[in-house]
Amino acid sequence: MTRPAAMAGAARTTAPVVVRSGELSKGGRRHLLSVAELGAEGIEEILEVSDAFVEVGRRSIPKVPSLRGRTVVTLFAEQSTRTRLSFETAAKRLSADVLSFSVDTSSVKKGESLRDTVETVAAMGVDAFVVRHTSAGAPAAVARWVDASVVNAGDGWHEHPTQALLDCYTIRQVLAERSGRPSQGAGVGCFVGLRVAIVGDVRHSRVARSLVLALGALGAEVTLVAPGSLLPPSLEGWPVTKVSYDLDAVLPHVDVCYLLRLQSERGAGAFLPSVREYSAWYGLTSRRAALLGDGALVMHPGPMNRGVEIADDVAALPQSLVLRQVSNGVAVRMAVLFMLLGQVGSGGAAPDLAPTLAPTPGTVPGA
Ligand code: CP
Repeated sequence: MTRPAAMAGAARTTAPVVVRSGELSKGGRRHLLSVAELGAEGIEEILEVSDAFVEVGRRSIPKVPSLRGRTVVTLFAEQSTRTRLSFETAAKRLSADVLSFSVDTSSVKKGESLRDTVETVAAMGVDAFVVRHTSAGAPAAVARWVDASVVNAGDGWHEHPTQALLDCYTIRQVLAERSGRPSQGAGVGCFVGLRVAIVGDVRHSRVARSLVLALGALGAEVTLVAPGSLLPPSLEGWPVTKVSYDLDAVLPHVDVCYLLRLQSERGAGAFLPSVREYSAWYGLTSRRAALLGDGALVMHPGPMNRGVEIADDVAALPQSLVLRQVSNGVAVRMAVLFMLLGQVGSGGAAPDLAPTLAPTPGTVPGA
């Protein structure tokens, strides 16, 4: 474990964070391919570093020089709104150069293979690839082909690690606020015994897999709620407490109700008599939301199918965290990119949180 260097004087607005070099590493390079690699300690560390970047995001100029001179490529071979823009925002706020690669407008359409494509882009000088792909294992393959860090931004039905991390960060942040304590230094004790229902299309959901692994590692009690046809064929290796087919029975007993998108593009419709029937049994309507206990949180990774897994008015409830999840995603991805790239040759330095621009006379930095 390495200790951080002291924070730069004027920028010392947050408690120092401990960054463990090598925690995200594999084969000498650093990657984030799966939540399973992190363990409770690794997750806690990322959440702690994220706190520092949430603070940066509140500044009038939310930009720091931590990754100046580094290049991050977002390589997306599947549609995305949140994850792609969030990673690109995160990299830019860290002062990295960002290359945005879309398969649809690339020479992949002329028949170039993924490997040739990735090696071509890497030859331009890339420090990190952020990869989304329809095939499970594609980011791991990229990690074998290039001498750069790789972050899994969602691969097929496999994993979506940064979604799970931002979800855990959001839960921890809200629980810390409720307890009147700052989330910084709060640890992850709040997850022990936390009752979380993950509801819906678990079978096709990489979010569910990563979130179950993260929550399980942190000691939460996870209940999967879904029709049998939308559960994975096997739950071996899934640290879940129980499985239920009855959402109404589960709702009064949970602290967090996490709704999954019905993934029509992966054929979820074929596993159901009809979307209408699915919604009738598993959609979080306002009648069902009223079954939740006081203070229970409602979450969704987006994009939402309004009127299917979540009703319009439920998405707008004060305890619905959908947009807060998105906001926190930028800070969590800043933390991940910083932990992968920010310490090379520095012996495990803390993030350089000094503002990128010197304040002009007469202005108050961060005001
Ligand atoms: N939650 C999520 O991964 O959203 P996008 O598909 O829009 O990136």
